[in-house]
Amino acid sequence: MFTRTSCLSSCQYRIGYGRTGFELAYGPTLPEQIFLNQRKSAVILGAQWGDEGKGKIVDVLSEKFSVVARYAGGHNAGHTVIIAGKKFVLQLIPCGVLRPECKGVIGNGVVLDPMAFLSEVKKLKDAGLKIDGQLFVSNRAQVILPYHRMIELAAENAPGRTKIGTTSRGIGPAYEDKMHRSGLRVIDLLNPALLRTHINNACYEKNTIAQALFGTEPLDPKAIYEEYARAAEQVAPFVTDTAVLLNEAIRAGEKVMFEGAQGALLDIDHGTYPFVTSSSSTSGGAVTGTGVGPTSIGTVIGVTKAYVTRVGEGPFPTEIHDDSATLLRARGQEYGAVTGRPRRCGWLDLPLLRYSNMINGTEWLVVTKMDVLDECAEIPVCTGYKINGKLTDLIPADMRGFEAIQPVYTKLKCWNASTEGITEFDKLPKMAQDYLHFLERESGARIGMVSTGPDRDQTMTLPEFAEALEA
Ligand code: GDP
Ligand code: IMO
Ligand code: MG
Repeated sequence: MFTRTSCLSSCQYRIGYGRTGFELAYGPTLPEQIFLNQRKSAVILGAQWGDEGKGKIVDVLSEKFSVVARYAGGHNAGHTVIIAGKKFVLQLIPCGVLRPECKGVIGNGVVLDPMAFLSEVKKLKDAGLKIDGQLFVSNRAQVILPYHRMIELAAENAPGRTKIGTTSRGIGPAYEDKMHRSGLRVIDLLNPALLRTHINNACYEKNTIAQALFGTEPLDPKAIYEEYARAAEQVAPFVTDTAVLLNEAIRAGEKVMFEGAQGALLDIDHGTYPFVTSSSSTSGGAVTGTGVGPTSIGTVIGVTKAYVTRVGEGPFPTEIHDDSATLLRARGQEYGAVTGRPRRCGWLDLPLLRYSNMINGTEWLVVTKMDVLDECAEIPVCTGYKINGKLTDLIPADMRGFEAIQPVYTKLKCWNASTEGITEFDKLPKMAQDYLHFLERESGARIGMVSTGPDRDQTMTLPEFAEALEA
């Protein structure tokens, strides 16, 4: 316990005690601490439509962080990490847990399917990881229940509805219930009486709606209760107030990383609505989805592929419709980590990347999958859009606007040499270096890392970024 002068020079107060003298669970934060903390935390997120390689990059960077916290989405995410040839696909659990010294937090902004969570915990334990005492789940996170999946599947396939091409994990309906203030939170999952009442009432309502609208067979509340009550007992040891845990870690000077899921263009507010997910995947979501203040966020790191992919429906101005897409898909192994669906492939879209950098406040970019471009005949990059004959790089807000886009391309030469596994910028072929310089200049954010293969070791960290990480 120590005393310091606050910025109101006449006023002294003690960290850890309120004015009443009672010990506080969490104390006020002094301005100088905020400054220090800012440099120690980072949001890392997808700059496109997801699957940019966030998992790999979070894993590489987690060496420098004590805590990694997921702030949005659920088991719709699939984050692949490859360590010395061994593959892990994490869906709900932050990639930081792959390092025993790093804590993992599932924040309040996440929607948690208890069965998916427990099966992921089991998989990691079977792979020899400790997990117990290292992983924490927010008591305020929302719970996904079977009727969420039932409603989503029925609605996606109903005539007259806009098909989103979701992952069928119940994500959208679970967030609907959250916003409707009728969701079940993890803290309520742990209370058997409340759980039973909630499931009975919700099943009555959801079964009635699903049957009336889609003719779906009703779900049995008793079976759901029994399954969830059993799961609750196993989830309970992980549950805590993660907002307090994170703020205490920040106050103690630990480095915290906020791990995004999905990508900026799948964000419920800023993405290509309605072809988006149902959460705030942009950097703002890190604040609301974990319970830390914006003053605690030090930097924002956006992960972008050297090209673009998208899974599911929705606009994609630079989508490739010829053999180049087949080449990228094959070389980049572009198949969904969760659903196995082939990913749609396209050329890098700079207007979208600039937009993504703007709404996220991105300071650093990580460019992944450079090696996938090694054998392209040429590399078109979209630098602007032509909409109804006018040049612009503004992103349309509606689907008709997207339909009118004619991408304007600059064609860059391919290096036609292997970049696989290169870890120093100077060792990249000259044209690959030119590609990255062009990308940096046009995107307005500094490139901090480049990934040249799926493995942890196939990564280069540029000196300025390495320095910033040590700060
Ligand atoms: P995330 O959802 O953003 O974590 O990305 P995914 O794991 O869904 O998809 C990225 C895929 O690309 C995974 O299969 C990774 O192993 C792979 N990957 C990541 N970085 C690179 C890279 O630089 N080169 C290649 N060839 N593959 C990469
Ligand atoms: P990571 O974290 C790519 C897409 C789905 C669909 C839309 C809505 O691995 O990058 P949802 O099930 O969330 O309601 O589906 O969002 N989608 C993703 N696409 N990567 C993801 O996660 C995604 N999570 C959701 O394909 O188009
Ligand atoms: Mg993924």
